[in-house]
Amino acid sequence: MQTRASTTSLAVESVVGNGPILRNAAGGKALKEWPSKLSRIFCLFIALGASLVVGVICSLHVTGVLSTGSMLSSYVSGAQQRVHRHIMAPDDSQALCHGMEDKELLWRASMVPTRPGMPLKRIRKVAFMFLTVGPLPLAPLWEKFFKGHQDLYNIYIHSLPEYEPNERPSSVFYGRRVLSQEVKWGDISMNDAERRLLANALLDLDNERFVLLSESCAPIWNFTFTYQYLMNSNQSFVGVFDDPGPVGRGRYDPRMEPEVTIDQWRKGAQWFEVNRELAVYIIADVKYYEKFRQFCLGVCYADEHYIPTMMFIEFKDKIAQRSVTAMNWSRGGSHPGIFGRHNAASFYKTIRSDQSCTYNGAPGHACYLFARKFSPDSLQALLHSATLRKL
Ligand SMILES: *[C@@H]1O[C@H](CO)[C@@H](O)[C@H](O)[C@H]1NC(C)=O
Ligand SMILES: *[C@@H]1O[C@H](CO)[C@@H](O)[C@H](O)[C@H]1NC(C)=O
Ligand SMILES: *[C@@H]1O[C@H](CO)[C@@H](O)[C@H](O)[C@H]1NC(C)=O
Repeated sequence: MQTRASTTSLAVESVVGNGPILRNAAGGKALKEWPSKLSRIFCLFIALGASLVVGVICSLHVTGVLSTGSMLSSYVSGAQQRVHRHIMAPDDSQALCHGMEDKELLWRASMVPTRPGMPLKRIRKVAFMFLTVGPLPLAPLWEKFFKGHQDLYNIYIHSLPEYEPNERPSSVFYGRRVLSQEVKWGDISMNDAERRLLANALLDLDNERFVLLSESCAPIWNFTFTYQYLMNSNQSFVGVFDDPGPVGRGRYDPRMEPEVTIDQWRKGAQWFEVNRELAVYIIADVKYYEKFRQFCLGVCYADEHYIPTMMFIEFKDKIAQRSVTAMNWSRGGSHPGIFGRHNAASFYKTIRSDQSCTYNGAPGHACYLFARKFSPDSLQALLHSATLRKL
């Protein structure tokens, strides 16, 4: 809305600005009234036209129809300049259409209010951030999960830039893609994508908890349980562990000192869940990012070390040191087990019944809210068990 509103006022200002000249030229009193009425109607048309054009261009941007170099988008950038003077777009419906590149996006998202007494009504929401290649094969399951809770969550999707989304307008995923860039598995570009998702989600002040998911992730409990589990937790969920072997400490480069020492070096799956405070820290960080960008290349796999190590150093007590996303590593190798039609339901059951975790200091709680990796052909099995559980 912000884009449209400001363009409208721009259009009105500039046309009304010509008003006096017209009236002066016309001279007589009767004639003075008419042109001004006419010009008001004229203004209205111009304003409506302009807002329509901006609206259409904006939606074309979201679907990636326009290339950045096109004439039309340079026309829009004038309107965007006005929006960008605000710290955050008050209306989230325009938030994903901001057109900001990483540098400005991260900087803007890092702003934190310091004055007490927030004058705005805030509904605490969970930001579900999907880091994907392209399609979302388990979308029907997620649609079910989200149904009836639209006030309590926001969805953000990062897919490869060449992917053309095909969600229907009625889908919860429709129009929720952020401006994306190439991502390479295991590379720091994966962290860049994660930070891009976090920054987009931070622009909305309602978002309080931020969970990173992939297209092969499925929810384990219903929305209410998931929401309360996250909102009522006094810790964030980042998996960190100290692996003394070659694929743990073996990946450490001493040139990371003094920012990161070998004793502080940690490993963990990238699927984190953080609160707003930690999310801001992650996107605002330049200290650790520089070290990882320079000295964690190739088989170091920055995406398994950067955020876990940084969170361990800076927020040891604020993270539960476990992830809320379950995976099966018992097969060995560098990828977790994949669950399909035949074994998805049994994996699901095992994960749900795991109550071995500590939550807010008390033992005997559910460990996981999400699980992966589920192949596309597991959908029917999962939907079936979801029906049983009235997910
Ligand atoms: C959600 O799941 C929890 C835990 O299984 C259950 O107690 C609750 O009744 C469910 N809520 C709904 C609305 O189905
Ligand atoms: C994890 O994978 C192993 C081997 O692939 C399998 O034996 C085990 O049942 C799986 N665990 C769960 C919880 O499904
Ligand atoms: C979380 O709550 C538990 C139980 O009240 C408490 O023992 C623990 O210190 C709290 N942790 C944090 C980080 O506030």
